[in-house]
Amino acid sequence: MHQRTVLTALSAFVFVGILASCGGSKPASGPNLSAAQAKYPGYSLADYTAGQALYAENCGRCHPAYAPASHTEAQWAMWVPKMVPKANKKAGSVAIDEAGQELILKFLYAASH
Ligand code: HEC
Repeated sequence: MHQRTVLTALSAFVFVGILASCGGSKPASGPNLSAAQAKYPGYSLADYTAGQALYAENCGRCHPAYAPASHTEAQWAMWVPKMVPKANKKAGSVAIDEAGQELILKFLYAASH
């Protein structure tokens, strides 16, 4: 009983330690958005995270979600608009609207530059 409490306290401590090490103090830990920001002024971490989430949720349902660097910008520009209707059909709703499609394209660019 007592040992269990110590263990729980210890794992909570380790968990907080992991969270802290992912925290904002080191800028190198987040994605480097400078290339994407040069191309898309105002591009933010929130845009990146939103695009990443849309991509992860919708683009790995029929085939693996391809790595951002697996296709060139021109290839993504061709494939993504072609795949969005497929993804929406599969979701049974407009999971990815026009703005969402842009977020996905920008995420793929940001994650591979
Ligand atoms: C309903 C199933 C389905 C979903 C959802 C889907 N795909 Fe696809 N994807 C396919 C199929 C089938 C192909 C084969 C090529 C074709 O249909 O023209 C393909 C091919 C691709 C290719 C070409 C791979 C190559 O050979 O280079 C890319 C890139 C791609 N998909 C990206 C995406 C992205 C991005 C999304 C999310 C917006 C997505 N896919 C969602 C079914 C899907």
